[in-house]
Amino acid sequence: MRIVIKPNASDAADTCAALIEAALRKTPDMALGLATGGTMEPVYARLRAAHEAGLSFARCSSFNLDEYVGLAGDHPQSYRHYMQQHLFDHVDIRPEAAHLPDGAAADPVAAAAQYDALIGRCGPIGLQLLGLGSNGHIGFNEPSSSLVSRSRVKTLTRKTVEANSRFFGPDETPPHLSITMGIGTIMEASRIVLLATGRGKAQAAAAMIEGPLSAHCPASILQMHTDATVILDEEAAADLAERDYYDWVELQRSRVPGQAG
Ligand code: F6R
Repeated sequence: MRIVIKPNASDAADTCAALIEAALRKTPDMALGLATGGTMEPVYARLRAAHEAGLSFARCSSFNLDEYVGLAGDHPQSYRHYMQQHLFDHVDIRPEAAHLPDGAAADPVAAAAQYDALIGRCGPIGLQLLGLGSNGHIGFNEPSSSLVSRSRVKTLTRKTVEANSRFFGPDETPPHLSITMGIGTIMEASRIVLLATGRGKAQAAAAMIEGPLSAHCPASILQMHTDATVILDEEAAADLAERDYYDWVELQRSRVPGQAG
C-alpha cells in the first residue's frame, strides 16, 4: 500500500485528481470506478478543470460504487444526480458509458447482480476511486460485510444514515438501503486510489492501514491489493503509528521516481 500524506484537503484532492488524469491520458478507453460524497467534490472540480484544459473522457466508461435504493436518478440526493452535477454534465463522457446501480429498479437484488455482471463484462476497472466512511466502509460495504462480497443490496448503519442525512431536507427520510459494489468486486480493479480527509476519518484510516485485516474495518482489505494508493491530509493521518516511515518512502520515491515502494 502506498500512503501519501498531504498538508491539507486541497493538496490531497490535487494529488488524487492528478493520478486519475494521468491514468486517463495513458489509457483513454479505460473503465474508471467512481465514488461520490463530500470528499470527492474537489476531485471532480479538478477533473472538470482538466477537461476544460483538454482531458477527454470520450473513450472511457465509468462505474460508480453505489446508489440508494428507492431513489430514481433524477432525485436530487441520488448518486446519479450527484455525478451528473459534479462531473458527467460538464465533460464529454458518453451518457451510455456512465454507469451507476439502478436504485429505482423494481427488483434491487436482481439489479445489483446485473450491475456486477456488467462490470465483469466491461472490466476490469482500471482505476477505482474510493472514499472512506468514518466507520471504515468502502462503497456502502459496512462493517461485517464479507470481504469477498459481490455487488448487492446492503443495509446502511445508523451512523452512515446520520452522516448522509446532512444532504437531505429536514422533512425527508434518508434511505436505509443501498446497492453497492461488493468488496470482492472492488478488489478486482487493477488499481485502487482511496482519498480520505479530515479528523473524522483518522481512526478509520489508521485501522485501514495499520489495523488487522478485518470485516470490522472493510477498508482494511486494501492491505491485500497489490496496487493501492491511499491519499490522506494531515488530519486524516493523525492517528497513524508509522507516519515517519510513510513520509520516508515518499521521499525516496521523489528521489528515484517510481522505484521505491
Ligand atoms: C460514496 C461511497 C462512500 C463514501 C464515504 C465517505 O460513493 O461509496 O463510501 O466515499 O461514505 O463519504 P464522504 O466523502 O461524504 O465523507
